[in-house]
Amino acid sequence: MVPIVTTPRLMAVGGGALAELPDILRHLGLSRPLVVTDPYIARCGILERATALLDSAPIRWSVFSDTVPDPTTAVVETGARHLAEGGFDSLVAIGGGSSIDTAKAMSVLAANGGQMRDYKVPAEIPKAGAPIVAVPTTAGTGSEVTRFSVITDTATDEKMLIAGLACCPLAAIVDYELTLSMPLRLTADTGLDSLTHAIEAYVSRRANPFTDGLAKNAMGLIARHIRTACAEPGNRPAREAMMLGATTAGMAFSNASVCLVHGMSRPIGAFFHVPHGLSNAMLLPEITAFSVPAALERYADCARAMGVAEEDEGSQAAVARLLDELRALNHDLKVPTPRAWGIDAARYHDLLPVMASQALGSGSPANNPRVPTHDEIIELYRRVYG
Ligand SMILES: [Fe+2]
Repeated sequence: MVPIVTTPRLMAVGGGALAELPDILRHLGLSRPLVVTDPYIARCGILERATALLDSAPIRWSVFSDTVPDPTTAVVETGARHLAEGGFDSLVAIGGGSSIDTAKAMSVLAANGGQMRDYKVPAEIPKAGAPIVAVPTTAGTGSEVTRFSVITDTATDEKMLIAGLACCPLAAIVDYELTLSMPLRLTADTGLDSLTHAIEAYVSRRANPFTDGLAKNAMGLIARHIRTACAEPGNRPAREAMMLGATTAGMAFSNASVCLVHGMSRPIGAFFHVPHGLSNAMLLPEITAFSVPAALERYADCARAMGVAEEDEGSQAAVARLLDELRALNHDLKVPTPRAWGIDAARYHDLLPVMASQALGSGSPANNPRVPTHDEIIELYRRVYG
């Protein structure tokens, strides 16, 4: 089957791109945005810069600044009511993946009614809602260009995957200058998330020639700059590379899907509130080792794209270097095991059957080069615990 590729209609990419916000809204015929953000962005000056630009246009705006990390159905429902009642024609999401995912879910819920869980994958979203202009302030989730949103069900603690054209922003403003003040931990976690997106998009059973190029480009950028971006927060070339890497990785996995790492990562995040990129990183080396036998050449390509293996090096040797590099990255960027992060052993082991069922239920493991059974997922969770 020919891949159907989804991307935003307009993108402004580069340092200072935020200034394009009023023009982008105008080009798209949008004049009454609800700005969706979190309390930190509302405080740190970024929201103020964005609203000053809107004021100077002039464009009338309102703000919903109650988004939370690991966005919940409760917050989405409040936001959707706000959106439906305020006469808005668009959403401007400013923040990390959580704010952008919240805006997507608000748009879906306000347009279609019902409850968020009605739209959980594999459900289809009947109609697209208010269009979204996404402005990422982290270099990680790629949510500014993806057709996915991840929302935690307040009732069950499940991280639900919501997918469809209705979730793809109409426009993205990708301005690396907004990431210059990100602290080390956030830079590392979000950067490792985008590296995981690129690798998973490349080895996915749904990869295609369009996504392959984007994924390899992203891997090269992220692998070569992530340590510098963490060590030198103000290093502009490193920040720019990480932002481009995150967005291109987002375009890749939005159209090729993620695989087993993300499938297993969501339950860890939902039950133990481990930041998304961190739980991916906890899993990435072991899941890669598990998956390599089914896609040796693809993983060898990843090593070459990341610059840790020579172009003419044999695939077996290249894959060994990839595994070494993934473990070294976790060491250098101080990624703990679930045990070292403080997750209680008894609770973790009790929850493994539920976590494995949720991982399989998300559909992501079915895209993995080696598709695991329920028991194999439990065994992998045991192996990474530490
Ligand atoms: Fe992710």
